[in-house]
Parts: sequence; structure tokens; C-alpha cells
Amino acid sequence: MSKFFVTTPIYYVNDAPHIGHAYTTILADVLGRYHRAAGDEVFFLTGLDEHGQKVKQAAEKRGATPQAHCDDLVPRFLNLWKRLDIRYDDFVRTTQERHKKIVQLVLQKVHENGDIYTDEYEGWYSVAEERFITEAEYESGQFRDVKKLKEKNYFFKMSKYQHRLIEYIEQHPDFIRPEHRKNEMLGFLRQPLGDLCISRPKARMDWGIEIPFDRDYVTYVWFDALVNYISIPGYGSDEEKFKKWWPADVHLIGKDILTTHSIYWTTMLFSLGLPLPGTIFAHGWWLIGETKMSKSLGNVVNPLDLINTYGVDAVRYYLMREMVLGLDANFTPDSFIKCFNSDLANDFGNLLNRVSGLIQKNHGGKIPEPGAVTEHESLIQMNANVLPGSVKLLISQFKVQEALMETLLFVQSLNKYMEIQAPWKLAKTDMKAANRVLYTAAEGLRIATIMLAPVMPEKTAAVLSILGAEDTKPVWGQLRPGTPLKSHPPLFPRIEVEKA
Ligand code: MSP
Repeated sequence: MSKFFVTTPIYYVNDAPHIGHAYTTILADVLGRYHRAAGDEVFFLTGLDEHGQKVKQAAEKRGATPQAHCDDLVPRFLNLWKRLDIRYDDFVRTTQERHKKIVQLVLQKVHENGDIYTDEYEGWYSVAEERFITEAEYESGQFRDVKKLKEKNYFFKMSKYQHRLIEYIEQHPDFIRPEHRKNEMLGFLRQPLGDLCISRPKARMDWGIEIPFDRDYVTYVWFDALVNYISIPGYGSDEEKFKKWWPADVHLIGKDILTTHSIYWTTMLFSLGLPLPGTIFAHGWWLIGETKMSKSLGNVVNPLDLINTYGVDAVRYYLMREMVLGLDANFTPDSFIKCFNSDLANDFGNLLNRVSGLIQKNHGGKIPEPGAVTEHESLIQMNANVLPGSVKLLISQFKVQEALMETLLFVQSLNKYMEIQAPWKLAKTDMKAANRVLYTAAEGLRIATIMLAPVMPEKTAAVLSILGAEDTKPVWGQLRPGTPLKSHPPLFPRIEVEKA
């Protein structure tokens, strides 16, 4: 048995979660469920990033303390994850004591290693980004909320690790995925890497974790947030737990936070003498039509609205099916309905309806005997037995979309088989043949259903219960003839466009 440790970014507590946040969290959940099903021990960590200027300002506006403000906002995330069937193993809040004390320990260690120094710094500070930006970034005009600041601060010697990092990335082809993101980071590292300002004077901003060797300062939000990936699995508090889980197998992130993860975080780990995560996987953005989602444009998609209209599994399926590894994806109501109707209503749902309808009608409502098989059934059996291995391989490469496509192709082949064999006709002339076809289709459906379970936990559990096959494995021949089928409403009724 091996272990699988997967993380999501910890989300800023201030922003209401939208489909972009839901996407990464569902992706982590889906990977976690595939790994659990394969027998791996899984640790899935998610949570919230609660410190920093933006939270402080928002709290002030409401007349609340930052902590009370955060406490008020947390349920928005917890409720959404519950509705989305997210099975995380731990949920971190950066204001928790268990996290704060480890951030301080990390600062202390990095300091003792001689990797922290003070300096007077003058530069442009972007409140929106919570960091100093370079002169070139300032001139690009792309940053909001920028002001000139001059102050004494603490700096982390990131530059010291530049060459080691380049070498590491070059020697570990799976470290930054997908490939084009790796090249982007290597390109970035061709220029000299500066050091990282990791403190904020309390006099300017006090909502953060105090620097242990200078109580007039708090640490920079990113230095705080990134540490969650080790503070929660036990760094500095539970040796055994930490040894078991670290390094993480994958940090799932959006492309906009690749630099902080692949450069800030990795050099911090170098300084601590810790191994680096297996993969940093940067996915693309969900666009609304062709545009970026943003509060000011008023085009933010609330996942709860989608769940209320179409059900949680349809939302999970759509998000996993539509985004190709590493590329941006467009959310439109049209593409949602198209995806639902073709994959779930026409292919998967239809196979279930036909199989269970015919078994009820012509076979006494019980799984029929397979009898002796022909080459048609052998081919289906062979494909069914190959499918779990292909899905496993694709999942190990984070290709969830392709794993779904493979499974759907198999479902389509079963529908085709049903059409060609026409067991409703066979039932009148050759009952044994009709039995064989329905057993084969039902058994194929069972295996496809198990393959879809990590993406659609509720609906697939319903299908397996209908087939009386709750605890079965994706190996051919586990469906027991004679098992009564449960009756059921259509699980994926077509969405009529006018209604939508
Ligand atoms: N708090 C930091 C992360 C710290 S991790 C140690 C942060 N939070 S965030 O809430 O702003 O963003 C979290 C994630 O949501 C990022 O990975 C970001 O890429 C992702 N998304 C935000 N909008 C998105 C889309 N429209 N589409 C897909 N993901 C997007 O950054």
C-alpha cells in the first residue's frame, strides 16, 4: 500500500468561493477518491488563508475584529465543501495555534541557518497582491492599489538557492506540471532571482503571525500560508506523522500562484533541509465565455446555484470533464447542458435505463445468467478488464478529463452493443442469447460505474445499489445472476433547453 498526500491552495477567507475554487477542491477530492479506491492511504488537505491586509480592511469595514470576521466567513467554505461531497482529511485555518506556532518555528530555523537578514527597502507595494512589486511590474500598469513604501524589513535569501532550484527542476521532469509551466518557470529563473521580503511592520499591518525574533513585525502572508503544507502533517510537532506524509505527492494550484509555489516555497524547503513535493500541478483558469471571472464584472459563477439546479454530481462531472490538463476552460450554460445531455443523459443514464428496463420487463427483474459467451462478449470483457488500468495510469498523470473520456467510450461501446444485439428482440426468439446480452451490458455498466464513482459519488452509489453490487470490484464477473434489481427513477433526465 502506498500513500497519497494531496493539497489544494488555502483560499483567501474574504472571497466567496466560486467555481474556480470549487474546481481545484473537487479535483483534489477526485484524485483522493481514485487513490483510496486503488488501496492507497490518502491525506487530503485544504483550508483557508486568513491573515493579511485585505482581511483586516474588510473586517474594519464591518466594524468587526479580523478574527471574528474570519470566523463569520468560514462556514461559506465548509458548507460548500459539504454540498460538493468533498472528503478532506484536514481543514487548516492559518489563525489556528497549531499552524501559527509552526510558522514561528520555521522562521526561527531559517533565521538560524543564516537565511534571513534585515534591510531598508523602498519600493512599490501592491495591497491587492500583498507584496512588493518590481519597477517593471509597476510600469506595466497591471497592478491595482499600489503605493510607494520605505521601511525596514526582514528578507529571506531566496537568491542563494537559485542555481540549486534550476538544477532540481531540470533533473525532475515531473516536478512542475504541465510541461509549458515548467518552461515558464525555467525562463523566469534565467534572470537573477531577488530575495524575498517576508515581514510587515506591525505599525502598518498587524494582522498576521508575529516574527519570533522581532515582536514589532508580523510575517508576510505567503510565508505564513505556504507553511500549512508542512505544519498540518506534523512538521515540528509530530515526527512520525510527518515522516509518513511528507513530501506531498502533489500541490494542486491555479496558474496564477505558480511562482509562489515553485520558487518561494521550494527555496523555503531548501533552507529547512526538507525534500520537495513530488509535483506542483498548475491548472488553467475557468473563464466565463471568453472573459475572466471577477466580482467587478459581476460574472462570478456561484457553485451553489448550479448544484441547486442540476445536482452535485452533474456539477462535479462537468468541471472534471470540461477542463483539459493545464489549459483554460470556458464555462457557459450551453456547454454545461450539452455535456450533461450527451454524456450523462444519453450515454450513461440511457445505458442504465435500458438495462434495468429490459431486465424488469423480460427477465423477471433479476440479473440473468451470462451463459456461454461469443466473441462480442469476449471483446467487451477484455475492454472492461483493461479500463481500470488505463484509468489508473491517466489519474497518476492527473489526466482526469481523459480518464472520463476513456470510460465514456466504453459506455458508448456498450450502448452500441445493445443496439446491435437488440436483446428486446432476442427475448422473443432466443432467451439464452437475451440473457447473455443483458448480463454483459449490466456487468459492463457496473465496471464503468465504479470508474466514475470518484467523480460522481452519489449517483454511482445509486447505480451500484440498483444492481445490488455495492461492494464489488472492477473485475469482470462479480455481478451475481439472480440478484433482484431495484426500481428507480431516471437518474439523469435530459435537461430541456427551454426549462434551463
Ligand atoms: N491564499 C492564496 C493561496 C495560498 S496557498 C498556500 C490564494 N487564494 S485565492 O483564494 O485567491 O486563490 C486560490 C486558488 O483559486 C488559486 O489557485 C487560483 O488559481 C484559483 N482560482 C481563482 N480564480 C480562478 C478561476 N477563475 N479559475 C480557476 N481557478 C482560479 O491565492
